[in-house]
Amino acid sequence: MRTQKDTMVAVSKIGELVTMTLETAEILKNVVEITANIMKVDVCSIYLWDSGDGSLVLKATRGLSNDAVDFVRIHPGEGITGRAAKQGRILAVSDVTKDSRNKYFPITGEDEYKSLLSVPLRFRKELIGVINVQTKMPRIFRNYERRLLKTIAHQVSGAIHNSRLYESVLTAKKELELTHERLVESGKMAALGRLSATLSHELRNPLSGLKGASQLLARKMDKEDERKQFVNLILEEIERLDGIVEDLLNFARPGKINFESVALNQLIDDILLLHSEDFNSRKINIRKRLSKLPVVLADRDKIKQVLVNIILNARDAMPDGGELLVSSGVITHESESKDIVSLQFKDNGKGIPGEVINQIYEPFYTTKPDGVGLGLAVCKSIIEEHGGRIFIRSYNENDGRSGTVVTIEMPVIEKQKVNKADGFK
Ligand SMILES: Nc1ncnc2c1ncn2[C@@H]1O[C@H](COP(=O)(O)OP(=O)(O)OP(=O)(O)O)[C@@H](O)[C@H]1O
Ligand SMILES: [Mg+2]
Repeated sequence: MRTQKDTMVAVSKIGELVTMTLETAEILKNVVEITANIMKVDVCSIYLWDSGDGSLVLKATRGLSNDAVDFVRIHPGEGITGRAAKQGRILAVSDVTKDSRNKYFPITGEDEYKSLLSVPLRFRKELIGVINVQTKMPRIFRNYERRLLKTIAHQVSGAIHNSRLYESVLTAKKELELTHERLVESGKMAALGRLSATLSHELRNPLSGLKGASQLLARKMDKEDERKQFVNLILEEIERLDGIVEDLLNFARPGKINFESVALNQLIDDILLLHSEDFNSRKINIRKRLSKLPVVLADRDKIKQVLVNIILNARDAMPDGGELLVSSGVITHESESKDIVSLQFKDNGKGIPGEVINQIYEPFYTTKPDGVGLGLAVCKSIIEEHGGRIFIRSYNENDGRSGTVVTIEMPVIEKQKVNKADGFK
């Protein structure tokens, strides 16, 4: 009677589980718990078949050490568990210490358990894993106990099969969403590129007309003419618009790169010197750690534009002062013939929140009241045009420290030029 009741309880409890969750890990955790209780054993563990690795991996246990989960891997035919899997039948051993087939994995701490009942998990002939129960005291497993574990195994196999199906559907769905997102993104960028090109083109001529006319006006006015300040204001705004149009164009059509030899350390020094007063007045300390660099072939003006934007971004991130550390060095990749020059700009400013870090390269993404948001979009396209890459890591107050590190890596083109480099520092 007891046996039938146990079986009923096991079947209904595990059946219930399957309707409650579709997550494999959750199901396994509950099954080992329920089975150990119903069968009154010290240990219940489930191994799942990993076809990639061709082994059974311990996935859940009640009783063995949790350190062993995901680490113990048993090949089919190996030990008693592996044999049950390979032969596709139940194996019962009342004292494993006296069984030469037994294989003991120290990490599990199973040396104190004597009896083992091992039942393969199968779904339509396909091996899914193995479920084991173990006891400290030597025990001869009765027929009804074997049947009970077999029933449980049957239920569990179906549940795992379903949850794996469900998980694969979820993965496929996620991949689809990602692909869709990328497609939308690339479509958006292309459209934005076209729009920017048209817009900047259309703006350019009227802007230069305005500029010419205002300059003329300014020249024609007396020094004392109080209207002159308005004309100057107009000129300043025109300059600003000019800059934006220039950025837009750069983003839309990065244009030809005029390669020339560039000593990057020198360029960095020049830019920092140019901005040193501004940084001083904002209590931002600049530190440099520049290592010898080979001369790289690059478009000097464009790289300058990149460096200026990164340095100004760092400045804007430290409204209450701070430190900007600029470092440079060469990375040698053994596998690749080319060396890579790496430049890093590390500030201890407010940082970029994790949820927007993917947006910062998007054109027009800005958090500044008078920012345009084209800086990093242009930086990225310029660096990529040079065959390099840019990446940004950032911490903010939620991380317990804050700051941003911008890294630029550029390939050293034409290595033979390195030796006669005129730009060694
Ligand atoms: N070092 C940094 N620390 C904190 N936030 C940064 C840093 N660099 C960039 N950001 C964030 O990324 C945004 C986008 O930067 P980006 O340079 O593209 O545009 P911007 O500086 O806002 O405007 P502009 O077009 O004038 O450069 C910034 O508004 C800022 O929020
Ligand atoms: Mg910027």
